[in-house]
Amino acid sequence: MSHQRDLIDKLLDKTAVIGIIGLGYVGLPLALRYSEAGYCVLGFDIDPGKPEQIALGKTYFQHIPDDRVKTAVDAGLSATTDFRRVIEVDALIICVPTPLKENREPDISFVTNTIETVTPYLQPGQVISLESTTYPGTTEEELRPRLEQAGFTMGDDFFLVYSPEREDPGNAQFTTQTIPKVVSGSTENCLAVGSALYQGVIDQIVPVSSTRIAEMSKLLENIHRAVNIGLVNEMKIVADKMGINIYEVIAAAATKPFGFVPYYPGPGLGGHCIPIDPFYLTWKAREYGVNTRFIELAGEVNSAMPEWVVGKISEALDSVSKSINGSRILVLGIAYKKNVDDVRESPSVEIMQQLRTLGARVEYSDPYFPKFPKMRRYDFDLQDAGLDSESIRDYDCVVIGTDHDLFDYDMVFDDAHLVVDTRGRLREQNERCFRA
Ligand SMILES: NC(=O)c1ccc[n+]([C@@H]2O[C@H](COP(=O)([O-])OP(=O)(O)OC[C@H]3O[C@@H](n4cnc5c(N)ncnc54)[C@H](O)[C@@H]3O)[C@@H](O)[C@H]2O)c1
Repeated sequence: MSHQRDLIDKLLDKTAVIGIIGLGYVGLPLALRYSEAGYCVLGFDIDPGKPEQIALGKTYFQHIPDDRVKTAVDAGLSATTDFRRVIEVDALIICVPTPLKENREPDISFVTNTIETVTPYLQPGQVISLESTTYPGTTEEELRPRLEQAGFTMGDDFFLVYSPEREDPGNAQFTTQTIPKVVSGSTENCLAVGSALYQGVIDQIVPVSSTRIAEMSKLLENIHRAVNIGLVNEMKIVADKMGINIYEVIAAAATKPFGFVPYYPGPGLGGHCIPIDPFYLTWKAREYGVNTRFIELAGEVNSAMPEWVVGKISEALDSVSKSINGSRILVLGIAYKKNVDDVRESPSVEIMQQLRTLGARVEYSDPYFPKFPKMRRYDFDLQDAGLDSESIRDYDCVVIGTDHDLFDYDMVFDDAHLVVDTRGRLREQNERCFRA
């Protein structure tokens, strides 16, 4: 039987063993989904802490409960740091980070290192699917040549797929299973294998004609968000100057049943995707002599937001004849978005940094971070200050940086001396409560 037919059969009857490389925000839920759908799953990570936690049936993300991990482990899910075990799997799905370098160029070294690590153990008849977000051309220019050099023929004895991840951690409305999945292959045979790989776990597969289409579609999704958030952040500044409530404006505009999608302003962009991914395209576009002006402009507007918020904090303190210098300021929420324990690129943290530089005594409260996490660019020796109607009066100003549902907003607005809200929780501005 051909390698392709054999592999598709195993994927469809769920006897295939699925390997997931990189057990982070994307890889862990995907591993759980394959396990829940009845596949045998073997996870790989270079961080030994993750296989250790999984072996104990324990989660390491707040939004994924222990019992989901435990059920999967009981059903056969295991994880390892031993990449020689790649030999045991039929499919390898790569979910490793794709960050930017200091100079804002793509850093795909996690992906290429993974390929180099697994190549000695790859077998004819396996499929590799890359899910990490990346620029158009990565699969064909970086992955395929490495696999061909190892002696494989794409679409014949080996299969290469690109299928961008659309995970939205903490979003209760959509799960890995219900988010439609774009799938592409290096060849037609690869696409057929890719479709079989995801068919058993995802409700709707969206096949596209090339890996570059799939790579660019993911970037378009995230650029669309970055640009629209940039636009609404600019609108917020205009509305603020005009004394108009931007949230009421958006709510009114959103009643239009066609041609308008509401986006909401905030303190800036955060997370692993929206502030980073657009620059993957910017970099690649330069190779073709094209400037991505919308991306650059949105980046400029969005990255100026923390400083604008600090300006509003300064105005709020001015109104009671205080200054940032010497004030005690509590930042509520350090995660990059509500109800998650992910602090990557969080604008709240940048606001804390700017306030400290200006001489404020800054503390934070965030139920998802009892202790301030270690970050690449920031290192604050702080613990969750907690939040109650008495201690909140110790601060000159309270800044809502991330609007976790766990905060008691009535208490915050009633009891704090001054509040600056960057997330639209405030209904009416008054002499103590300000929008930013
Ligand atoms: N987090 C999201 O919401 C999200 C959504 C869509 C797409 N993505 C994309 O998915 C990819 C993964 O993102 P993430 O948020 O899961 O990252 P993450 O940092 O949470 O997890 C990545 C995991 O990969 C591991 N790792 C790093 N190098 C490795 C290697 N060489 N071999 C094996 N494991 C390795 C890390 O230890 C970590 O556990 C990125 O390209 C990201 O842009 C993320």
